Amino acid sequence: MRIAVGADHRGYSIRVRIIDLLRQLGHDVEDMGTYTGEAIDYPDIAARVARKVSHGEVDRGILICGTGLGMCIASNKFPRVRAAPCHDDLTAEMSRRHNDANILCLSADLLGERLVDRMIEIWLNTSFEGGRHARRIAKIYNLEAEIHAEEQADPTEEG
Ligand code: RB5
Repeated sequence: MRIAVGADHRGYSIRVRIIDLLRQLGHDVEDMGTYTGEAIDYPDIAARVARKVSHGEVDRGILICGTGLGMCIASNKFPRVRAAPCHDDLTAEMSRRHNDANILCLSADLLGERLVDRMIEIWLNTSFEGGRHARRIAKIYNLEAEIHAEEQADPTEEG
């Protein structure tokens, strides 16, 4: 798989480990930084990864910040992105089976290394179940389209 990986300063060192793991597993990794330990705002990194996922330039993304939450909030602003903040084996698995998550958001501060490695393998190896869950994902796409149309509508127009 083509996988874009990004982290803010809190996830800077774990990002390097994750990239090594993904390459060992045979994936094609795009390293979106951050490349130094200096503080950087998580939305800037989330945008680099989420834009690639949104445009289909990569298959999946992995984002790491202190809690995983800021990365998740920011990346879900992008159309077609389904970012999930996962914290154990079950959330990693279910985010794929039911939500077809295409970005995994991880906490650098709250998760141990072995747990992170295991979650990543589970997340990459678990398939989307489709069926009723596909209908629900289609509804999310419809919401994106509706919201976009509302934003484009002339607010002065009466109807
Ligand atoms: C940075 O201090 C921290 O706020 C960030 O890494 C993340 O946890 C935000 O959600």
